[in-house]
Amino acid sequence: MSDEPELAAASALENAYPQSAERLKRYVDILASRGISWGLMGPREGERLWQRHVGNSLALDDAVPQGSDVADVGSGAGLPGLPLAIVRPDLRVTLIEPLLRRANFLQEAVDELGLGDRVTVVRARAEDVRERYDVVVCRAVAPLEKLLKWTLPLFGDGGQLLALKGESAEEEIRAAGKPLSVSGARAEVLELRVAAGVEGTRAIRVTTR
Ligand SMILES: C[S@@+](CC[C@H](N)C(=O)[O-])C[C@H]1O[C@@H](n2cnc3c(N)ncnc32)[C@H](O)[C@@H]1O
Repeated sequence: MSDEPELAAASALENAYPQSAERLKRYVDILASRGISWGLMGPREGERLWQRHVGNSLALDDAVPQGSDVADVGSGAGLPGLPLAIVRPDLRVTLIEPLLRRANFLQEAVDELGLGDRVTVVRARAEDVRERYDVVVCRAVAPLEKLLKWTLPLFGDGGQLLALKGESAEEEIRAAGKPLSVSGARAEVLELRVAAGVEGTRAIRVTTR
């Protein structure tokens, strides 16, 4: 870790989550080492793991209700599901990821972080999963229209989808007008930031009630 914004973000997140700081640091170390050597993270991402990857993930913290069953669809190296599971001991989290190498990485990370009692790795495509969750989270997986097709059956009646998105959020909501109205779902854009000194982000929240 060399540059200033990354150091500032690490310190802001450690201050925001003092009880989870040690585990967050261990997870960032796993991303920086095996995440990069296994090809799950680009080499340049090592310079912004706190600022962007962990920071974006934890921006969802306030939006996830207490005690939720959460599914992270297309979890990859565990983003946003693992940072959320680390700082929120009230959550049960299922990391859904179809690719073998990524699912193996996730299982090793869960074991090393000691989260196996409430974090489960499921190697599957979202559209093949038959469970129900209170909250589905995801980042960088697919446009909203496709995500709705895959995830509406997972969060169903009374649950919600929280999809981390950048500038494209409004355009994706417009493009998903038909599936949203057919399913009676509502979509809104949330502006999120976990702490001062950490990159802000945006999310689309979809609810069905
Ligand atoms: C660009 S990566 C993003 C990973 C992680 N969410 C992140 O933000 O770093 C997209 C991930 O979605 C997964 N994926 C693709 N199609 C999927 C599907 N139908 N169901 C679940 N995951 C899927 C891929 O295997 C990949 O790990």
